[in-house]
Amino acid sequence: ATRMQSSEWSASRSAKTDSSADALSQTIRTGLMASPKRLPAALLYDDVGSTLFEAITMLPEYGVTKADLRLIEAHASDVVRAMGEPIRGVELGPGNGAKAKMFLEAALDLQPELSFTAIDVSRSALESCRRTLEVLPDVDVELVRANYLEGLAQVPKEGGKRLILFLGSNLSNFERSESRAFLSSVRARLAPGEGILIATDLEKPKAKLLPAYDDAIGVTSAFNKNVLARLNREWGANFDLSAFSHEIRYLEAERRIEMHLRASRSMRVNVVALDVELALAEGETIWTESSHR
Ligand code: AVJ
Repeated sequence: ATRMQSSEWSASRSAKTDSSADALSQTIRTGLMASPKRLPAALLYDDVGSTLFEAITMLPEYGVTKADLRLIEAHASDVVRAMGEPIRGVELGPGNGAKAKMFLEAALDLQPELSFTAIDVSRSALESCRRTLEVLPDVDVELVRANYLEGLAQVPKEGGKRLILFLGSNLSNFERSESRAFLSSVRARLAPGEGILIATDLEKPKAKLLPAYDDAIGVTSAFNKNVLARLNREWGANFDLSAFSHEIRYLEAERRIEMHLRASRSMRVNVVALDVELALAEGETIWTESSHR
């Protein structure tokens, strides 16, 4: 059984009318006018971006998702037993649901049925998650299209102790101070005995990290450039994608991978829906994501 909660679910992708879309527009506007220019990482995950990210998780260079699957396979039962059944699963940013499926299968060995809530900003990720979990009839799946904290506020308190799954290094997108604040907010929403399971990638040599974000066949480059394509599609911008290149930096001291888009020439760009005109200098970059170790 699947239920969908979201005012945005049936709304047109290009309708930027509700308040969370307005907040996103504001963040984009501020970021494009800042120096250096930057865009929120959540912008990466529209239908095209989520599909490209799913492809990234299968690349030989990208080990994060595969490592999570190995850890879940080995330890999910112990985690559920340590919580004490019955649990209720909640996942923040589930992607295609492959990790959830493996986790829920382990939980179903210990309890006969389970509720599971998937929270994601991406419609296609939620849809993909629903399809992946269809093979588990004893899981009552609920999809919530919202950002993490807004989504968490909608999760019912009944139906088992809530275990929040925060996997795939999703925490890594936050700045370090933001991640502490975010985890405190999650903590404030949980009752004694409930929990959060966090999986993040560890530090590794630069020579191993860089190819994971700059893969040989260019999937991550397409994933990165899609943010500008999305601004063109949904916000009426006129970025010339051929004038941008994918750039990855690793800041060893901060243990942070950064994704940027570098303009190969100076240009002016109009973003109709934000009512802004931007000037980019030759070589100027737009910072699109941080990923901390
Ligand atoms: C989903 C944020 C964990 O940072 O590794 C993958 C996103 N960006 N390749 C990550 C991503 C480029 C991913 N997270």
